[in-house]
Amino acid sequence: MRTQDIEDSEASSTGEVDPVERTSAPARTRMRSRMVGDLDREDVGRQETLAGWVHRRRDLGGLLFVDLRDRSGLVQVSVGPDWTEAASLELAHRLGAEDVVRVTGEVCLRPEDARNPDLPTGEVEFRVRELELLNGAVTPVIPVYRGPEDELPAEELRLRHRNLDLRRFELQENLALRHSLILTTRNYFDRLGFLEVETPILTKPTPEGARDYLVPSRVHSGEFYALPQSPQIYKQILMASGFDRYMQIARCFRDEDLRADRQPEFTQIDLEAAFVSAEDILEWIEGLMAALAPVAGIEATPPFMRMSWTEAMDRFGSDRPDLRWELEVEDWTEVLGSADSNILKGAVAKGGRIRGFRIPDGASLSRREIEEIEGSARAAGAPGLLWAKRTDDGGSGPLSRWLEEGHWDALDAREGDLLLAAAGPDRVTSPALSATRSAVIGAMELARVRDHAWLWVLDFPLFEEEDGKVWANHHPFVLPHPEDVHRLGEDPLSVRGIAYDLVYNGSELGSGSLRIHDPALQRRVLGILGLDDQEIDRKFGFLLEALASGAPPHGGIALGMDRMVKDFLGVPSLRDVIAFPKTTAARALFEGAPAPVDSEDLRELRLRIEPRSSGTDRGDDG
Ligand code: AMO
Repeated sequence: MRTQDIEDSEASSTGEVDPVERTSAPARTRMRSRMVGDLDREDVGRQETLAGWVHRRRDLGGLLFVDLRDRSGLVQVSVGPDWTEAASLELAHRLGAEDVVRVTGEVCLRPEDARNPDLPTGEVEFRVRELELLNGAVTPVIPVYRGPEDELPAEELRLRHRNLDLRRFELQENLALRHSLILTTRNYFDRLGFLEVETPILTKPTPEGARDYLVPSRVHSGEFYALPQSPQIYKQILMASGFDRYMQIARCFRDEDLRADRQPEFTQIDLEAAFVSAEDILEWIEGLMAALAPVAGIEATPPFMRMSWTEAMDRFGSDRPDLRWELEVEDWTEVLGSADSNILKGAVAKGGRIRGFRIPDGASLSRREIEEIEGSARAAGAPGLLWAKRTDDGGSGPLSRWLEEGHWDALDAREGDLLLAAAGPDRVTSPALSATRSAVIGAMELARVRDHAWLWVLDFPLFEEEDGKVWANHHPFVLPHPEDVHRLGEDPLSVRGIAYDLVYNGSELGSGSLRIHDPALQRRVLGILGLDDQEIDRKFGFLLEALASGAPPHGGIALGMDRMVKDFLGVPSLRDVIAFPKTTAARALFEGAPAPVDSEDLRELRLRIEPRSSGTDRGDDG
């Protein structure tokens, strides 16, 4: 059989198709009449032509069963001497996993005892009259078919053979959801009058707190473009240019230390609008989440909870608390500050606090379990945790020796409870308490109070201090809170920004703010960050020029698209929602990037590679 066009095809590449309808349209082309996953008992008796991959083959003597796979699913295809042509019969016995085939035949009802209720097409089978091998496949390095007991191959192997890994239904479904979320997002903002405008990929450095990826210019040797860490400055300039409402599904590039929730190359839902208050942005994003939730099969019911940054840090030790659980940090400074302990007294004397968790029935945790929780606090930077169990004969644990009779009651600790405390400056204890909270939730298997916890964290500090230097908390363009702006001079660290983060189940989905539109104030803030006037003009002159030429008040937000899909699906890694992701060592294993370039190419760019001195290797096997 030749690869012949199916006659009278309804397929049309020019016909107008509603993009939402398209996903459910029968995917008829000139080579096939149906997708395999759509076949059911209604189709019994129909002659069809299917095309796809050999997922699995079972040889039952005279009969041969092939699970045929395409993007829509699987169908059982049967080959037998009574209904298959001789040449096709012979060919079928030579088929191997992942061969690409086309079959023509009839949809038949399976005998009652052969139906498979776990498969959407499990009531039918496809009896092949003709079989055609469209392309053979070498034996796959990682199997696409997996039995119920088979584990996934190691991730590195799967990334190295991503072409095969992407054939897994899980990944295909994840990417299909991603597509639907992007489509819904674009439609949502279109209805609100936002314009999608593409901003440059070859650009000038934008300060989002990571290192830039640099691209050497051949024409202007010695000069470099930077790949955008985000479209931040461009979207502000669009506002100054009168675009009023901008959005973009934007690619961003950051050379930073990677974790499971970060990739060097990622996608944002980026937006900016003029003549807005923060409330407008929050309302739009809540509306977007409510529109996306049914697509993703989760719940989002606005208005979302809100909390200031200070309150979030106080109650949970984190600026992105997971509010699926109620467990809260308590401040015990007043009760325990005078206890007979140098550690506790010392911490308070230095301006720190004693904070901790009271865990009802936590005394049931073993010493080992408590040590594991303490390990999480240590990993988050605390020297350790102090703990005490209230028992029928008093108490046990290092903290208990400093607790007097009245202390237990003052801390509301009952018999069987566990107290876990950290003493010191909030800067150290907050991350430790947040890590402790997650560890306790896991160890105690605490029940959730809700499955979908949405939260706005508001009023972030404008700056933070690290190693004696002042840094922008988000980026340098955040509008200082009008109530605090007078403290910019003498106490910049106490100034709040009109900045907001969207948190879903403890994950930072997005971050935004109102922006500075007054060029003098912008210059002042950049000055506080340690830039002198010349540097400001060199790095941000074009932004200041745009602000000085009549920029409206404006603000916006960017949501991490990859992170959003990952969290909606509840999968562990961004690599599960990106078609061609990088490893934690920022390598693309399938195509092999980054890679050395020819010396000729370097010469053309007038670049020379310095030999690596020992000790500068970054450790490359993630
Ligand atoms: P920010 O840097 O907070 O803000 O980024 C916004 C959101 O993007 C996601 N994100 C990432 N996702 C995957 N990998 C990464 N390496 C990564 N880095 C960030 C997060 C984050 O909340 N221009 C500002 C936004 C604004 O102010 O409008 C910005 O980029 O989900």
